[in-house]
Amino acid sequence: MEGKRSKKRKRAKRLKFQKEKDDSPAVEEIDESKEEEEEESSDCAFAKRTKSQGLSKSSTFLEKMKARLSGGHFRMLNEKLYTCTGKEALEYFKEDPELFNVYHAGYQEQMSHWPEQPVNIIIEWLKDHSPSLVVADFGCGDARLAKNVKNKVFSFDLVANDPSVIACDMSKTPLDSSVIDVAVFCLSLMGTNLASFLKEAHRVLKPCGWLLIAEVKSRFDPNTGGADPKKFSKAVCELGFTSVFKDFSNKMFILLYFKKKDKQTSNRKEIEWPELKPCLYKRR
Ligand SMILES: C[S@@+](CC[C@H](N)C(=O)[O-])C[C@H]1O[C@@H](n2cnc3c(N)ncnc32)[C@H](O)[C@@H]1O
Repeated sequence: MEGKRSKKRKRAKRLKFQKEKDDSPAVEEIDESKEEEEEESSDCAFAKRTKSQGLSKSSTFLEKMKARLSGGHFRMLNEKLYTCTGKEALEYFKEDPELFNVYHAGYQEQMSHWPEQPVNIIIEWLKDHSPSLVVADFGCGDARLAKNVKNKVFSFDLVANDPSVIACDMSKTPLDSSVIDVAVFCLSLMGTNLASFLKEAHRVLKPCGWLLIAEVKSRFDPNTGGADPKKFSKAVCELGFTSVFKDFSNKMFILLYFKKKDKQTSNRKEIEWPELKPCLYKRR
């Protein structure tokens, strides 16, 4: 008890000295008194608490802080992917491939709150069609699509964290032209140059090949600054596709299915792509 009083006296002296030396000690004063309060309350609490309870409390606190930090890190990486080109994103992850795991851990956490995963709908679509269709999964993530269908799937992403994945910027895949039956973009139209991803899909698709797009619904809600889905569809058609199917029934994502035109008509007109706003996740 005497030890604590002399500690307090020393602190008061230090504060007085600080006040004389510097006329703006507010922060220091607040910190010190807080520190003291914390010290006293923790002294009392310690007497009431067992050591193991204390440890579990602090480890829960640490876990919460870690989760908060990695959540923040995920949101920063997510925003980066939506606001740079595919080429820049490739360079970014080449410098530190571990960041890709941070992004995907956060992405999986976000997706765990979605009642339905769009990738599963695309898996079911493929299961309802011939397994002989050759598929290209643009922005495949953990290659879940390839792992759940019998088809031959070329999986592309910025980092290959599975041996089946080909690391590249998907605006320039190593595929030859007209070799693919189904091109998939499942929540992966992220770069500012997303039109060049769709052009690449058009190049590698066979005539009459399928283009399946699943995208975050809010990006296509004109009422909240999103793109007009009709304008987006029109732009895709001008690239050389025919719209086959649209589904806006899911709360979280939309589905747009197209087929590559059998014969290409020469289109010299510049395509007007509506801007797709980034999908930024809220802090939970
Ligand atoms: C939101 S995740 C979706 C992953 C997967 N399609 C799914 O549905 O679970 C988007 C993925 O697209 C990838 N991606 C974004 N831009 C890319 C690019 N330019 N080239 C290749 N992959 C890209 C990201 O790295 C990320 O893995």
